[in-house]
Amino acid sequence: MFDLRDIRFFRTAKYSIIASNFTQIMKILVTGGTGYIGSHTIVDLQTHGIEVISADNGINSEASVLEGVEALTHKKVKHYNIDLCDSAATRKMFEAEKPDGVIHFAALKAVGESMEIPLEYFRNNLLSLINTMDAAAQNGCKAFVFSSSCTVYGNVEKSPVTEDTPLQPAASAYGRTKQMGETIIMDAIAKTGMKAALLRYFNPAGAHPSGLIGESPRQTPQNLVPVITETAIGKRASLQVFGNDYPTRDGSCIRDFVHVCDLAAAHTLAMDYLINNRSEDLISIFNLGIGQGVTVLEAIAAFESTTGMKLNYSITARREGDVVAIYSDYTKAQKVLNWNPKYNIEDIMKTAWQWEVNRNKN
Ligand code: UD1
Repeated sequence: MFDLRDIRFFRTAKYSIIASNFTQIMKILVTGGTGYIGSHTIVDLQTHGIEVISADNGINSEASVLEGVEALTHKKVKHYNIDLCDSAATRKMFEAEKPDGVIHFAALKAVGESMEIPLEYFRNNLLSLINTMDAAAQNGCKAFVFSSSCTVYGNVEKSPVTEDTPLQPAASAYGRTKQMGETIIMDAIAKTGMKAALLRYFNPAGAHPSGLIGESPRQTPQNLVPVITETAIGKRASLQVFGNDYPTRDGSCIRDFVHVCDLAAAHTLAMDYLINNRSEDLISIFNLGIGQGVTVLEAIAAFESTTGMKLNYSITARREGDVVAIYSDYTKAQKVLNWNPKYNIEDIMKTAWQWEVNRNKN
């Protein structure tokens, strides 16, 4: 069980010095605020004394997640239940709130699903981005942090990838929405009065160590770690490993799993970097992974060794849209943002499992 005295739960002294600037940040809008990374980021922002407004259309999350957030931070989160594809509603919210910065998470995010309903992915992910950026620019926002993905690198020839690694064609419609999103921001930022950070996440996983918040999508999860925990708890009969004939050390795909609390911390640091004008560039790009390639089979083994449980899994065909192997070089985030991820794959499995157990108690 998580112990509140767990040292990793708290920021290091170095973080705290940087964090002292955060008091200058008045108000941050988090879109996708009731989602997985959004909710963990709200906790991190509030822990640094930042006022947070949340917006979400609730399509894949429950507003009740904010109860867990408030239990952790003892602060209220003002929440807008709106669809950012609705430009009038988006504009109205910005006019009422006048946030200093925006962290834009709201998006559809399943690789496999994006190949089934690509138009919905393009409509939702691009329209919401354009409306949010536009309203932010019209209302005096200074900083725009965009939730991007390592998926923009496509099928890379070798890892680790740096931010300068040339982008290949994305392997899925989801990936193309992220590439296009980055392009839209690059083309538009100079005319908005804002600075932007594009945060390229590798594979976000795990849950808050308190066990109070975690990934709780309305739709059936498709990402590996929640599929593992749902199988272990018996919601699924078995887990399918999508392919063991890839050119990797055990034939399964390689990914770089990064703990959601480490990711959340990076957003606060990136916002501080932009708002306090430490960035000379209009756009800064950061890889957010922990720099360790883990195969799908190794991830399963990590779950089994951490929890002592045996997972029922079988090998099936490759999944359309998957890249073979990718992991990060995150030196830039470390040097520029002072971002130092603290959690490894075992921590990810331990906290994800604790969350799965907790959410199924009632
Ligand atoms: C992709 C993006 C990631 C993004 C995420 C959002 C890449 C390289 N990464 O993650 O940046 O945050 O989408 O959803 O594009 N797997 C199984 N069985 C399952 C589920 C997954 O074998 O039931 C395998 C997949 O084939 C893949 C790995 O596990 O090899 C990870 O899959 P997943 O968790 O869905 O994330 P990505 O698609 O890698």
